[in-house]
Amino acid sequence: MRQVGTGEFEGAAAFVDGDFVPPSEAKVSLFDWGFTRSDATYDVASVWKGAFFRLDDHLDRFFASLSKLRFSIPYDRAQVREILHGCVRAAALQDAYVAMVCTRGVPPRGARDPRLATNRFYAYALPFVWIAPRDKQLAGIDLHVSRRQRIAPASVDPTVKNYHWLDLVMSLHDAYDRGADTSCVVDGQGRVTEGPGFNVFVVKDGVVRTAADGVLHGISRKTVIELAARLGIPLREEAVPAADLARADEVFLSSTGGGVLPIAKIDGVPLRGPFPGPITTRLYDAYWALHDDPAYADVVNYG
Ligand SMILES: Cc1ncc(COP(=O)(O)O)c(C=O)c1O
Repeated sequence: MRQVGTGEFEGAAAFVDGDFVPPSEAKVSLFDWGFTRSDATYDVASVWKGAFFRLDDHLDRFFASLSKLRFSIPYDRAQVREILHGCVRAAALQDAYVAMVCTRGVPPRGARDPRLATNRFYAYALPFVWIAPRDKQLAGIDLHVSRRQRIAPASVDPTVKNYHWLDLVMSLHDAYDRGADTSCVVDGQGRVTEGPGFNVFVVKDGVVRTAADGVLHGISRKTVIELAARLGIPLREEAVPAADLARADEVFLSSTGGGVLPIAKIDGVPLRGPFPGPITTRLYDAYWALHDDPAYADVVNYG
């Protein structure tokens, strides 16, 4: 693997088939099962003010997902880390959205056996992508609670970060049709699962709750759980009926794409408590303060 230059592809950079390339050359085969069958896993880490946040956690989850889907890539963990640093260096970004992707690849012509494909690894760095930037958060995000069901965990393991997003994407269309800003979907028992790119938390009478399973175990979700323990805020991982969202004092989302994101309205109706709520605000402040803790930072090698 060559050493890519600082700012070589200023603004965005990718790693495809063993080399760093500009975004215009970041292409996959039409015949890759990652494209034709959503046969892929991925992970997304953030870079904030020149440092990756919790990169080790993202690498742990990515390598666990690779093994659960029986993927193998020609890079070990240290090399994947180097590739991700290379993408950010080549893009010369201080705040970035950094993705690593593995697809099944292209099996020999006519073959239907996934074991015959050579798995492919891709990575890229783009300017930081927000679920909603702070001004939009403070203007008040309206969350649509969709009746659509998240693909069942018995069908697709949600702890493997995956591209099975049609349920989430269609729920976003429903949200936009209603004038809402984003959406979350439920499980077969009508309990809150997750949304397009985030986990969901409800706060009632000082207690925070979030789905225990049937969701991606987000790295930001993990951060919120750890911070709540540190701050002495009671938090339970348990099933949350969707109806509890509208009755909550506070609702917030967690995502690498923006951290702790306060929700102002559920299906157009403002939540009762003050906005943003006191518990959301404490967790929001603690989430961003953690970015200054060297224990969670992996400073980008800008060369
Ligand atoms: C379906 C889903 N749930 C939850 C999350 C949040 O995970 P993280 O906190 O690791 O960004 C994501 C992130 O993209 C996601 O795609």
